[in-house]
Amino acid sequence: MNAGKECRIVLTRTLPGPVIELFHNSCSCLVNPDERTWGREEILRQVREHAADALLVMAMDRIDAGLIEALPDTVRVIATFSVGHDHIDFAAARARGIAVLSTPDVLSDAVADLGMLLLLGAARRAFEAMRLIYGRTWTGWSPTQMIGRDVSGGRLGIVGMGRIGRAIARRARHGFGMEMHYHNRTRLAAGLEDGATFHARLDDLLPLSDFLMLAAPATPDTRGLLNARSIDKLPNGAVVANVSRGDLVDDEALIAALGSGRVMAAGLDVFNGEPAIHEGYLGLPNLFLQPHQGSSTIETRLPMGTLLLDSVARVRAGETVANRLA
Ligand code: DGY
Repeated sequence: MNAGKECRIVLTRTLPGPVIELFHNSCSCLVNPDERTWGREEILRQVREHAADALLVMAMDRIDAGLIEALPDTVRVIATFSVGHDHIDFAAARARGIAVLSTPDVLSDAVADLGMLLLLGAARRAFEAMRLIYGRTWTGWSPTQMIGRDVSGGRLGIVGMGRIGRAIARRARHGFGMEMHYHNRTRLAAGLEDGATFHARLDDLLPLSDFLMLAAPATPDTRGLLNARSIDKLPNGAVVANVSRGDLVDDEALIAALGSGRVMAAGLDVFNGEPAIHEGYLGLPNLFLQPHQGSSTIETRLPMGTLLLDSVARVRAGETVANRLA
């Protein structure tokens, strides 16, 4: 659907070519031309100057109460180009009657693919292996070289069984024959469990998680969920992956466990304080790190853009949309 020629949107970052083209064809767009995150004052200035009625933001923008309260009355919609929404103050948006939209569903497969990449990359020591090649230190095949762990047939515990968690579970169970366990705020309907065993308590999931996947949203309840205490409950030599948000992890605790071998390896796509990364990670070999790119495929970025364009238009037309969060 066309968001309406009269729709005026400010985008805090540009989008991949075909996606930004869609926006330009549908609305009057003002786009941040740089790969630099705008601060609060810059966002407000652009929104005011463009008399925007929608603001399209990214996961790294802090859309806090102060910013929302200072938005001009023209702004009726805040749309985030992400499924994560911990960067937006919903209460402040509700208080101003501003709709908040996100991009659920359309990115679940891409993020789940990356989740499997993290598990595989960590368990099969992909970073160390590549260093052998690029460091020109590989001396040839050896039966003792780079011994990792089989993901296939392993036991995977997923924390957070939303759309992304379930997409990972499908791949792990049907593609890799993994035994599935999960912890979630509520138990899934039987039809959605797909053979995964529910654990109401995180502490009951952890000892079964030879592989542990963090896929829960960042909330005050999940902050620092992977810490010294919870790591201690994992099987020795577990492999950990995080596709959610960095603040689910206590970095110091994970770095210590990776250093001692208590955790064999970790695959991380997200970090506390991105784009900064705790220095402790950078000295360790048993990591497989990605720069927050779970949804970064053209097949996914296009529908993310289409979904937001469509839902901005519907909200402006007074319709109800499924991806409205506030
Ligand atoms: C999301 O959609 O939340 C991804 O983490 C990208 O920001």
